Amino acid sequence: MDYETIIVETRGKVGLITLNRPQALNALNATLLGEVNRALDVFEADRGIGCIVVTGSEKAFAAGADIKEMANLTYPQIYADDHFAGWDRVANRRKPMIAAVAGFALGGGCEFAMMCDFIIAAENAKFGQPEIKLGVMPGMGGTQRLTRLIGRAKAMEMCLTGRMMGAEEAERSGLVARVVPTAELLNEALKTAEAIASMSQPIVMMTKESINRADEVSLSEGVRFERRVFHAMFATADQKEGMAAFVEKRAPRFSDR
Ligand code: HXC
Repeated sequence: MDYETIIVETRGKVGLITLNRPQALNALNATLLGEVNRALDVFEADRGIGCIVVTGSEKAFAAGADIKEMANLTYPQIYADDHFAGWDRVANRRKPMIAAVAGFALGGGCEFAMMCDFIIAAENAKFGQPEIKLGVMPGMGGTQRLTRLIGRAKAMEMCLTGRMMGAEEAERSGLVARVVPTAELLNEALKTAEAIASMSQPIVMMTKESINRADEVSLSEGVRFERRVFHAMFATADQKEGMAAFVEKRAPRFSDR
């Protein structure tokens, strides 16, 4: 399949999407959004793919939504188009997605990274929601996801001032899972993705679904949801295989059933 703004590859059981608009620091335009969703559709339909990695360049994961594309839109246009709604499809994927972030992850770039299940950051990563300086605010989930990830005080400060946060502070604040040397970023992300892809695919997807419920429901409802899904796992061959392998002191051979 032909892509203009992204590079799509598979590495074993891992699907890799590299954002590729270097002339615009990977600014997220409508073409790129369409292509990311097309690539994700293909990876989601491919039972051989167990985890997806999204990355950019060493200079920028993505410097935001494409300001030049947005600048002259009118309210009736963006309302009628439900502008940015395509990003909900990105955020609602069922297979695990890792954002491997080096350089700038600003505005929509930071929001795209937060739509992934977790972020691995290079030491040179810089996160920010600078929309306030453009006379708008985050519009792809930033006010909600950033607040859930790093808490109200820091989210408020970042969105109201537009300041950037480095990788070390991002890890300390809970925005990223891990910081790695910049040169190691892709390798580390792919290794992590391979580890996830080697697990039982339905169990991985159910685990992701359960963690995501935590953002939506009360603790007691969330625990009830978890328990029901946990019980359901005993209907899989992979639960039997995983536990048998432990007892027999051997590596499990998951069949994704
Ligand atoms: C369109 C962008 C862009 C963007 C960079 N470019 N960010 N184009 N949209 N978001 C383009 C520049 O115009 C320039 O193109 C080229 O990429 C290189 O950028 P420079 O600014 O020359 O690079 P540098 O001096 O290294 O500065 C890097 C930077 C800066 C600090 C990241 O580019 C920057 O501040 N970018 C905007 C960041 C931002 O405000 N993001 C939020 C966007 S709004 P030319 O052709 O001039 O060489 C957003 C909204 C979400 O995400 C939803 C709310 C509505």
